[in-house]
Amino acid sequence: MFENIEWAPEDSILGLVESFKKDCNSRKIDLGVGIYKDEQGNSPVMHAVKKAETWLIHSESTKAYISAHGNTDYCYAVMRLVLGGEASLIKPSRVSITQTPGGTGALRVAAELIARKLHSKKVWVPDPTWANHPDIFPAAGLELGRYPYVGVDGRMDFEGMIDSIKHMPEGDVLLLHACCHNPTGFDLSRSQWREVFEVVKARRLLPLIDFAYQGFGSGLDDDAYCVRLMAENLSEVIITHSCSKSFGIYRERTGSLMVVAGNSLQANSVRSQVALIVRQIYSNPPSHGSLVVSEILKSSELSSLWREELDSMRSRIQYLRQLFLEAMSGHGLENKFRSVIEQRGMFSYTGLSPAQVRMLRDNFSVYMVNTGRVNMAGMSQDNIPYLAKAIASVS
Ligand code: LMR
Repeated sequence: MFENIEWAPEDSILGLVESFKKDCNSRKIDLGVGIYKDEQGNSPVMHAVKKAETWLIHSESTKAYISAHGNTDYCYAVMRLVLGGEASLIKPSRVSITQTPGGTGALRVAAELIARKLHSKKVWVPDPTWANHPDIFPAAGLELGRYPYVGVDGRMDFEGMIDSIKHMPEGDVLLLHACCHNPTGFDLSRSQWREVFEVVKARRLLPLIDFAYQGFGSGLDDDAYCVRLMAENLSEVIITHSCSKSFGIYRERTGSLMVVAGNSLQANSVRSQVALIVRQIYSNPPSHGSLVVSEILKSSELSSLWREELDSMRSRIQYLRQLFLEAMSGHGLENKFRSVIEQRGMFSYTGLSPAQVRMLRDNFSVYMVNTGRVNMAGMSQDNIPYLAKAIASVS
């Protein structure tokens, strides 16, 4: 019965991990999956996370199921982190929040909610976008639309983006990256966000904001600007959030789905539908990551340690951007790579073609996504000279 099942294509991002592991070249460089790495190329557990885990080992008293919506303390702590706590203008009762298995889980549940319960079945994603977005929405039976994000010159195309949004049909879902756009690293300025907000409001679109890199752009609050702008001024917004990167707990699958509704009655109806969807797909989320995050956020000592660690990760990536540009300038390629210092977050869109990416992998053991996206955190003071030489030789 299984003889006609063909091989599925390799995942364009996660597939790189296996190939990298098998590569015996001692100079190999992994710029693939979006994971934070230190100068030695390791992704250590953050100190704040270790401390919270040590405490949990002694204090956790049960492994019984948690509800479909997950850990309530975690949900409220993350809601404050995302929507701004005391300063937020949004009544918490208007928000349905559910802990999900990572940001991907949140997106998949959101897709299912849209497919089952909303009138419009179309989700617009930026072109380019995270490689998994165009698969997640059709998997729930939704139609996919694309709006321009980067122009032929390899720079951000805000005019194209806003013009396309102005022509989207009322009620359609508009996916936005809150910060650290994946894969390009190009983010909107505050005034550009306000322009997007005005059009979204006028066109009566439903924003679905993917917020996976909080703290990696400019800071925890700055990175939430567009989320708060939309959530405070529109009656309906969907937010998918991830703690994977901000807390470095990738494998613990810790995310959330927030649905901001017009009033508490609507939020509760949404919440009941989300519980149904969750029950049918995975019943309830894993617990560990949510306990870690809520422990950190409720302790002022752990919270400040975590914030310091997150700030230093962000600063290191910014420093690497500078170093990389200097190294490329040394090869006379400053103009080609100048935008690396305008981009933010983990990723940079290098403009390298799939053929160049292939050559870098085959001839130099440098691994990056075939769209030319690099994970900046995979660079180091040590490997940048080799990397720059390799890129220069294929440019
Ligand atoms: C990435 O874009 O590299 C990360 O979000 C990891 C993933 O799941 O693709």
